[in-house]
Amino acid sequence: MTQPESEEAARLPVVQPKDVVGVPVLPPAWLASLVIRGRARMARVLRAGDPPPVRILEGLQGVLDTAALVALCRIGVPERLSGRMEVDELAGDLGVDPARLRRLIRYAAARGWVGLDRHGKVRPRPVITFLRADHPGGWRAWVEFMSGEEILGAVSRLDTGMQDGGDPFATAVGAPFFDWMEQHADRHATFDAAMAAGGRMHGLVLARSLDWSKNQKVCDIGGGTGALLATLLAAHPHLHGVVLDLPEVIGRVVATERMSAVGGDAFSQVPAGCDTYLLVNVLHDWSDEDAARLLAVVAEAMSADDARGSRAVIVEGRTDHRARDEFAARTDLLMFALTAGGRERSGEEFAELGSAVGLRLQDTVHLPSGSVAHVLRRAGAA
Ligand SMILES: C[S@@+](CC[C@H](N)C(=O)[O-])C[C@H]1O[C@@H](n2cnc3c(N)ncnc32)[C@H](O)[C@@H]1O
Repeated sequence: MTQPESEEAARLPVVQPKDVVGVPVLPPAWLASLVIRGRARMARVLRAGDPPPVRILEGLQGVLDTAALVALCRIGVPERLSGRMEVDELAGDLGVDPARLRRLIRYAAARGWVGLDRHGKVRPRPVITFLRADHPGGWRAWVEFMSGEEILGAVSRLDTGMQDGGDPFATAVGAPFFDWMEQHADRHATFDAAMAAGGRMHGLVLARSLDWSKNQKVCDIGGGTGALLATLLAAHPHLHGVVLDLPEVIGRVVATERMSAVGGDAFSQVPAGCDTYLLVNVLHDWSDEDAARLLAVVAEAMSADDARGSRAVIVEGRTDHRARDEFAARTDLLMFALTAGGRERSGEEFAELGSAVGLRLQDTVHLPSGSVAHVLRRAGAA
């Protein structure tokens, strides 16, 4: 399945940092890293004084965060809560029990998702605003994705995954992640929407953090419905791009200027003739063996056109053996729960994977999102 570039296609969306990450401008990577690590360190120091039972109960009750976010969204709080208002009035608007809503709002206020003043009036804070179904960042899809029975079932099977070395997701629902998604179209579309929210953020970040001046055509492998690529192309009007993903995902791509879309299997073939091959949060879905197979296909496409000096850009969460980045530790564990051997990898591990297929790690770029871009080129190329 191929959607060619077309002149009549929709204009590329202009994505703003305030809509995607809630800040007017992206911070430099060093500042973002300092904040991420500083916050984790501060939280560790503060928690160190808590008695163990408090830490245990807090950890176990973390499940209430998911439950409360889901409940807030399902009853429509993000859409209704547009200004400061009485909880009773909000309950009336939503058609829910005021006393119970007050308890949910209290929890949300304790977590900093809404504000609650001393008169008991509730007001929106950025988290609840970002969860509106029509918010341009699209982060609501993450609530819908993470609250799916299949996801909750997989994350509750981490222990059996450790014991049998298997795939917790497949144990929970009977099929590996992408096979199961193929059979559940609604959930697959929700997953794609969640990926698109992250894709917009990665598009903004990569547009600014890498040099695109010598590039013309970008292939986004496993690029979902094209949100990342569209954001990147909008920021660099000289670029064209092609998004490759599974055929059912490509069926959801909106035709956009300067962007084409190809449905297929990246383990068999990726489009030739591109000077940048993006793999954003793709290799972490796969075991070492599968990641090497996928990278070999990319290296093959790059070898067909050495004169272009093409690069592969692998963007993944930062691995952190000392767990200084809590978020990275969480995504790694999520990959463990959802895939058969997928994981976050270090720069050395990407260098090793690359060298096995004739690619050398040329550069490592820390991104303001906290992720890292590993730039690989054909061994011998400039
Ligand atoms: C974790 S998502 C990452 C999406 C996107 N790159 C991002 O960062 O938001 C992995 C993507 O790989 C795609 N994918 C899985 N298996 C694939 C295959 N065999 N060929 C092409 N794409 C595949 C999935 O459909 C999904 O869009």
